[in-house]
Amino acid sequence: MSIAEKIIAWQKKHGRHGLPWQHNITPYRVWVSEIMLQQTQVTTVIPYYQRFMSRFPSLISLANASEDVVIEHWAGLGYYRRARYLHLCSQVVRDQHNGDFPSNADELIALPGIGKSTAHAILSISHNMPYAILDGNVKRVLARYHNISDVLTGVETMRNLWKIAQTAMSQTECRTYTQGIMDLGANICKRQPLCDLCPLQSGCKAYKYNTQGNIPNKPRKKLKRTETCYFRCYMNSNRLWMEQRPSSGIWPKLWSPPYCTTKPCEKTRHIALASFRHTFTHFHMLVHPIIIHTVDPRRNTGGAWFALDQAERMGIPAAVKKIIKSIQHETKVS
Ligand code: ADE
Ligand code: SF4
Repeated sequence: MSIAEKIIAWQKKHGRHGLPWQHNITPYRVWVSEIMLQQTQVTTVIPYYQRFMSRFPSLISLANASEDVVIEHWAGLGYYRRARYLHLCSQVVRDQHNGDFPSNADELIALPGIGKSTAHAILSISHNMPYAILDGNVKRVLARYHNISDVLTGVETMRNLWKIAQTAMSQTECRTYTQGIMDLGANICKRQPLCDLCPLQSGCKAYKYNTQGNIPNKPRKKLKRTETCYFRCYMNSNRLWMEQRPSSGIWPKLWSPPYCTTKPCEKTRHIALASFRHTFTHFHMLVHPIIIHTVDPRRNTGGAWFALDQAERMGIPAAVKKIIKSIQHETKVS
């Protein structure tokens, strides 16, 4: 049996089948799922995907929506640039491709926010076309199978991996193959691989030489700086003051209590809540929330008061959701 046949047989029996983007398969639905899944775990993505799809059931509905509403439906998923590109891409497809995703790789890759692997995922999953994907999971499976212990980011290594991926790619049942190699990477060939359950074991070089632990060979990560941020949570009885962030920066158009990086010297009494760390692509944010009871926050920045349960339903980043939970806890116990 070829690798492809083994993966397809394994997928049918042991792969994931009930994921929401695996039914009613269209290029649009596959595309949204792939973008959401790029930096986010399946379990986190599922409720977001379902909410997104009921609000934007078609590419046209997404393209015609305002950016604010799109961001609001992304709020909490992080990496907000993805939402921007998603919206922009839907408009390009509406305006330049008659509202239909192109069905060839080069035209897909030319669209905003769609790289080679995402383009190939769309083609293989929605059109059953033999285009190989190469996301993190697939890279790990193939690098181990071929015992490639180089750092997996170099141009030469990536060229080699793409060749390997395309050679392994099934020419039939392409959708099942693509889902299978991803699921194998996610559930079997994970960081601590379960080689005894793996359909590729007999041909796997990393298994043979017991080198699984060294592959993928990760380059030493750059240290991220830590930025301390003080969040002033103004409270007026049970309402929280929030302001909408500008359209640039880490939380474009999302709502948040005002924050700054210098320690506030509040003369009024305040309550310090538990601090926590939130990680972004390039830095860690050390979040220090403080509650300040006031009827007038004296800000001219266009904020508003929100009841806590209402605040939770606004487009807010995950860190702000955590702050609100912490305020609710604090105001309940005291
Ligand atoms: N990660 C990227 N694409 C995926 C898919 N279709 N199913 C599960 N995880 C994925
Ligand atoms: Fe990964 Fe082990 Fe399977 Fe090789 S045998 S592909 S290392 S799970």
